[in-house]
Amino acid sequence: MNQSRSAAALPSQPVGDRAGGLRAVDARTMTGAPEWVQHAGLIEWVARIAALTQPERIHWADGSQAEYDSLCAEMVAAGTLRPLNPAKRPGSYLAWSDPTDVARVEDRTFICTEQREEAGPTNNWIAPAEMRATLDGLFAGCMRGRTLYVVPFSMGPLGSPIAHVGIELSDSPYVVVNMRIMTRMGRAVYEVLGEDGHFVPCVHSVGKPLAAGQADVPWPCNPTKYIVHFPDTREIWSFGSGYGGNALLGKKCFALRIASNMGRQDALAGGIGWLAEHMLILAVTSPQGVTRHVAAAFPSACGKTNFAMLIPPKGFEGWSVRTIGDDIAWIKPQPDGSLRAINPEAGFFGVAPGTSAKTNPNCLASLSRNTIFTNVALTDDGDVWWEGLSDPPAHLTDWQGRDWTPEIAQANPVNGKPRPAAHPNARFTVPASQCPSIDPNWDNPAGVPIDAFIFGGRRSTTVPLVTEARDWEEGVYMAATMGSETTAAQAGATGIVRRDPFAMLPFCGYNMAEYFGHWLDIGHRLKASGARLPRIFCVNWFRTDENGRFVWPGFGDNMRVLVWMLERLEGKAQGVEHAFGTTPRYDDLVWDGTEFPRAAFERITAVDPAEWQRELALHDELFSQLAQGLPRALTRVRGQLQSRLGG
Ligand code: OXD
Ligand code: MN
Repeated sequence: MNQSRSAAALPSQPVGDRAGGLRAVDARTMTGAPEWVQHAGLIEWVARIAALTQPERIHWADGSQAEYDSLCAEMVAAGTLRPLNPAKRPGSYLAWSDPTDVARVEDRTFICTEQREEAGPTNNWIAPAEMRATLDGLFAGCMRGRTLYVVPFSMGPLGSPIAHVGIELSDSPYVVVNMRIMTRMGRAVYEVLGEDGHFVPCVHSVGKPLAAGQADVPWPCNPTKYIVHFPDTREIWSFGSGYGGNALLGKKCFALRIASNMGRQDALAGGIGWLAEHMLILAVTSPQGVTRHVAAAFPSACGKTNFAMLIPPKGFEGWSVRTIGDDIAWIKPQPDGSLRAINPEAGFFGVAPGTSAKTNPNCLASLSRNTIFTNVALTDDGDVWWEGLSDPPAHLTDWQGRDWTPEIAQANPVNGKPRPAAHPNARFTVPASQCPSIDPNWDNPAGVPIDAFIFGGRRSTTVPLVTEARDWEEGVYMAATMGSETTAAQAGATGIVRRDPFAMLPFCGYNMAEYFGHWLDIGHRLKASGARLPRIFCVNWFRTDENGRFVWPGFGDNMRVLVWMLERLEGKAQGVEHAFGTTPRYDDLVWDGTEFPRAAFERITAVDPAEWQRELALHDELFSQLAQGLPRALTRVRGQLQSRLGG
């Protein structure tokens, strides 16, 4: 490997003294920083973290293919990765994690602001000084026997005015190779940073130091886990997990929790502010060649990746839908009043189970090569398999390395269902550029202008298929009160509505009530400047019939709803106004290529006053939890809804 450096000569300063007194020249020598890193502050920070964590060596990642290949080869030798059959899945690997380290750990995720109220009632909070003392203890010597990788990354196209840079220090090579797919990672980031550019410092350790001569395990981790954010200093510290959003710190930690703070701090400092959202971004072009861009927020298990890669159904020839992002959008108001968005990520870290040629052919095609799979099953011919991909093969090796056959699965049920071969949260990491539906503008530093926002949840009743808000405030209300029913995969009891405002509940890095205020303020400021605000829609693909079956076919048929929305933007499509907003009638949608019954449509667009009275009571529960700082505009919209319902 290039740029590796023994850290044996690093000073073992007392932890409490680690911030003190390193001269730049010493720091460069100690860390072996290459000449292409010219940022003295960064080098000193690396030296301080190395002094604290005591790695055996330091590696400055350059992001090259050679580096990626060599790290993968090392992980194959260590048993962390398994190369897949190159004839079936070229350039691809499979990792199986420790069975205790399989998902984000929301209950171990903290927002550490001086005042508890700044983090708000929906976040875990610990005072910064107390948390720093805990982290000092956990990180002291935690990288012994391991390599500290310095991973420079840009969230968003390099040098884009909407992008921001982070540096992750991690002792996990799995993190390095995943970050190379998920972000713009490598040497070019240092050119953007120069000698004193701002970066978000991210420190990550799997929390499993190795004593001299101690053998490693394929997936090191620690039962103690902390995913910590310090919004005031824009720092991220993560300990104990090597998995997904816990460890790839550019994603949920930076691109949502820290970035949502940055967007709001910009407004508090007198700027217009910006938005870091849990949204996919799509470009939709009509047969007449008009392209519109929509950003859409959905909680987990609502088909977000499928919507991001939608293929127009029969009857919509001439339309095209292209993918810009599948999970996160950074949206900045421009001097002309438009809201321009980028996908800050460069790859997809998606859930594999349920992905198939039927549900998402674009996604499946993306995964044909150069993909890292985590916690899926291995086929006997060296390929991967997961539930929902195809009929189950006769034999597999499951994500825990055990023999799996349909009979073994039946004989060992989990939650009343055959034991799955892939973990339900098994993932793929794949470059976005491999997606057949990727938009030519996905990497455009200027971003794309957003014309509409869509908010969706999973509701078997109450919420119509689609509703357009009458104005920005009503739209913010819809987004603030969105909810989703838990599924069997998430909880023992199904059908409990969990409120998930803006699909940001686990990802908003500050007080949720203030976040609503930030959205309202941005709308007011843009409106005052004469800008045309994006329209706001709320969708629900999941209403069921009396037998609990989904009424709406979803997937490609969601195009019918999308086209209605876009035609609303052009002032072409009609709808009917009700208590909650405007919803299309059967004849307002294009039904070419299908025979969806009118009665079924009426069923899934019905607004039942009694159900809505109960729904409003649930909104009240949310608002009372968020009472401190709740914008008055939302209680006003609540009152209007009530009076329209005649209550
Ligand atoms: C994700 C999530 O992993 O939202 O993207 O949980
Ligand atoms: Mn997500």
